[in-house]
Amino acid sequence: MDTFYVTTPIYYVNDKPHIGHAYTTVLADVLARCHRAAGDDTWFLTGTDEHGQKVEKAAIKNGITPIQQCDETVVRFQELWKRLGISNNDFIRTTEPRHKDIVQKVLQDLYDRDLIYKSEYEGHYCVPCERFFTEKDLVDGNCCPDCKRPTEPIVESNYFFRMSQYQDWLIQYINEHPDFIQPAFRANETLGFLKKPLGDLCISRPKSRMAWGIDLPFDKDYVCYVWFDALLNYASAIGYLANDEMFRRYWKGCMHLIGKDILTTHTVYWPTMLKAMNLPMPKTIFAHGWWLVGGGKMSKSVGNVVNPMDMADRYGVDAFRYFLLAEMTPGNDASFSEESFAKRFNNDLANDLGNLVSRVVKLTVKNFDGVIPEAGELEDIDRDILAKTQAAIDEFEQNLRQMKLDRGIAAAINVVRETNKYFEVTAPWALAKAGNTARLGSVLYTATHVLAVVSGLLFPVMPEKMADLRRSIGLSEDAVNKTDLASLKNGEDVKPGSKMTDLPPLFPRIQLEPCCAEKAAAPAPKKEEKAKDAKSKKEKAPVELPEGLISIDQFFKTQLKTAKILEAEHIPNKTRLLKLKIDLGTEQRQLVAGIAEYYKPEELIGRTIIVVANLAPAVIGGFESRGMLLAAKNESGLKLVTVDGGEFAPGTPIG
Ligand code: MSP
Repeated sequence: MDTFYVTTPIYYVNDKPHIGHAYTTVLADVLARCHRAAGDDTWFLTGTDEHGQKVEKAAIKNGITPIQQCDETVVRFQELWKRLGISNNDFIRTTEPRHKDIVQKVLQDLYDRDLIYKSEYEGHYCVPCERFFTEKDLVDGNCCPDCKRPTEPIVESNYFFRMSQYQDWLIQYINEHPDFIQPAFRANETLGFLKKPLGDLCISRPKSRMAWGIDLPFDKDYVCYVWFDALLNYASAIGYLANDEMFRRYWKGCMHLIGKDILTTHTVYWPTMLKAMNLPMPKTIFAHGWWLVGGGKMSKSVGNVVNPMDMADRYGVDAFRYFLLAEMTPGNDASFSEESFAKRFNNDLANDLGNLVSRVVKLTVKNFDGVIPEAGELEDIDRDILAKTQAAIDEFEQNLRQMKLDRGIAAAINVVRETNKYFEVTAPWALAKAGNTARLGSVLYTATHVLAVVSGLLFPVMPEKMADLRRSIGLSEDAVNKTDLASLKNGEDVKPGSKMTDLPPLFPRIQLEPCCAEKAAAPAPKKEEKAKDAKSKKEKAPVELPEGLISIDQFFKTQLKTAKILEAEHIPNKTRLLKLKIDLGTEQRQLVAGIAEYYKPEELIGRTIIVVANLAPAVIGGFESRGMLLAAKNESGLKLVTVDGGEFAPGTPIG
């Protein structure tokens, strides 16, 4: 049996959770669920980082004590994880005695072995990052090289960990273990960092400056540096120096999930600490990218921080989990907007999956009284779709292994799309009308098998919805939760004779109000602007329009223009997408469109299409897309919208 121990960063309790925290935790949850399903001995840890200046400052700002700040904020994380269906086995708080004791034991041991020493420190401190920098690290004068905010100068006596002595060893370790830091370009980033001489790590704070931390066991005037304390959570939570059996059981299968901004602490500080503690390295440290909003960083002052609780309330937990994993290629940045959320939801879940489910269930209920028919004799077209379904399981598995979950999910949804096309060709509704029950049975059986496999693949991502779906297609209660890939490959779940039950639409389409799309893409207005806005609204009271109608002004906010396609090409591994270069008269732009299933790139070059020219840029399939082309789509295909006859120069306005 393999062991899988997955961790998230422990989150600071200075503020409530946002989409970035939700992403890592959902990603860890999906991995943990996949490994549990595969029968691996799995442990999933998350928690909160409760010491340090950041938390202390938040407490002061809120007029409460640091521990009150922790106690009040930790519940926001715990409640969110409960709401998002997170299946963590443990939740560690660094203020717990079980953690503090271990930190002190490690500090004492390193001190006793002269791996920690006292010295004078002169440097610069970045409070938001909780990190020290030397003069040469700073950018733009006195700013932090990571977050670019001003640092504070500091001169004081402190304790240091002899990190520098491990530099050569670490470089060699990273070079010899390609799986250690992933994706590979992040390993290169760390190796780049290690090209400069590595200093020793300051691991203390004098209490006179900052008292909110774990006491150094050998000097009560100091507390431990928050990162040295925090990183040790990964060991203390599984029994390091307390429960040897548990620690040995899980440590060997450890995978740390982190965001790209905390790469150095995890791939330089932590490995050297572990080396000094004579412990083996974690198997993998995987750094994912960031969620951006409107092309930039989320920020409280801009007012565009995405609240995961709101998303779950508005669109459902499983839809939100699905979006997070389907939209982000782990490793790269991704863009969040309510528009992209609605688009992904409507395309993949409402149209593709929801549509197939409703067709299969309704046709079975209507024509077979809900009883799953025998497969009967299969034709080539049935065998083809069954083979594609088997191939999707392999594709999912390979991508999961390579941490390309978005591609694994895409493989599952692609089979759904193929099966919807299979329905167009086999036309089960016509078979029903013609009374061809035997053939109808084969088609419905085949499609039910696809649904059993796809719901199994997507089960770790959308546990509730997929359980509903699996129950509705007549799987036994045992089979509902049996979603390991080996069982899905065997495909013995669908039993002719068992009963299907109709269910309410799994994913009702999202209708985005126009304002949501704008709100998501644009920064929130500043206070004065809000006041100005309110004033002008009063002066020009809006005419109340009947629901569903927009005014001409609202319509003209959308700039529609003609554009000529100059280049078109496939995007590797994105079967639905084409990357286009278009001429808009005044400029050339790149645009990514989901039309690859309907048009070959060479068919497009030279065509004049209609695009929404003033759409906020988005990253689609890993490429920036500036604008959206218009097309009509129904069950029989997709056609580009174009101008009726005549030649129109690129950039001609439409309206
Ligand atoms: N407390 C430290 C981690 C200690 S782990 C031993 C910390 N906490 S944090 O709350 O500031 O950030 C936690 C994680 O959230 C980091 O991995 C960070 O990369 C991630 N994110 C913060 N903003 C993010 C996005 N906008 N998008 C994705 N993740 C981002 O750092």
